[in-house]
Amino acid sequence: MEYLFKIFRYDPLEDEHPYFQDFFFETKEKKSLLEALMEIRNEQDSTLAFRYSCREAICGSCAMVFNGNFDLACRIELQALESSTIVIEPLPNLEIQKDLVVDMEPFWEALSQIKPYLYPDKKIQEEGHRIEEKEMEKIFQYINCIMCGCCYSVCPVVSRDERYLGAAALAKLYRFVKDPRDKRPFSHLLGVNTEGGVWGCDTIFKCNEVCPKEVRPADGIEALRRKLVVEKIKRIFGFRR
Ligand code: SF4
Ligand code: SF4
Ligand code: FES
Repeated sequence: MEYLFKIFRYDPLEDEHPYFQDFFFETKEKKSLLEALMEIRNEQDSTLAFRYSCREAICGSCAMVFNGNFDLACRIELQALESSTIVIEPLPNLEIQKDLVVDMEPFWEALSQIKPYLYPDKKIQEEGHRIEEKEMEKIFQYINCIMCGCCYSVCPVVSRDERYLGAAALAKLYRFVKDPRDKRPFSHLLGVNTEGGVWGCDTIFKCNEVCPKEVRPADGIEALRRKLVVEKIKRIFGFRR
């Protein structure tokens, strides 16, 4: 089977404008989109830049857009695609460093703002701190996040409001808030009780649609909103101090 790859190219240090470059690729074997890109780079143009590491949909580094779909290049089978013409673009909403490589710094910065780690109220014992399976089930989908950035890149709010933390960071916060071992103070949640936090989301669920690990980050954002409202009401009526 022969494929035509139309790949986004741009080197900010050399090119005046981005452009698409055509590459023909032929294979009789089953190949992933990432394998095809690697062969194109190895055999046709060694300057083609893209990220990857695990090749098994675990590290999240090969996220890109192909024929308008956000996904991990290593988990897409070429033979399963409907078209033999494949247009490949970098993740939007992030600055292009070269070709398909984008600067993920704003994504990591948003994540660091929510303090993405457990806040236990006492020292964790040597043997660890286990939680019940039913409690684990509530947070399991959020633990599956591999930080690929697809949800951040597809989000229309991120594209117009640089304050907005994005779906992955907010869903990650919910993952910790829902964990019975996490005892972070309510003041940590107030940091996202803003337009740049949970109230900035337009709830159009694009992030849920594109996640390659079936996380539903918008559900976490909704749940955080409910939690904030309930906690505020409790405080107003004196149920909590
Ligand atoms: S639901 Fe919210 S976070 Fe998800 S894509 Fe839409 S605006 Fe962005
Ligand atoms: S929630 Fe899904 S789309 Fe967003 S960073 Fe995590 S794995 Fe990627
Ligand atoms: S190379 Fe790790 S997710 Fe694709």
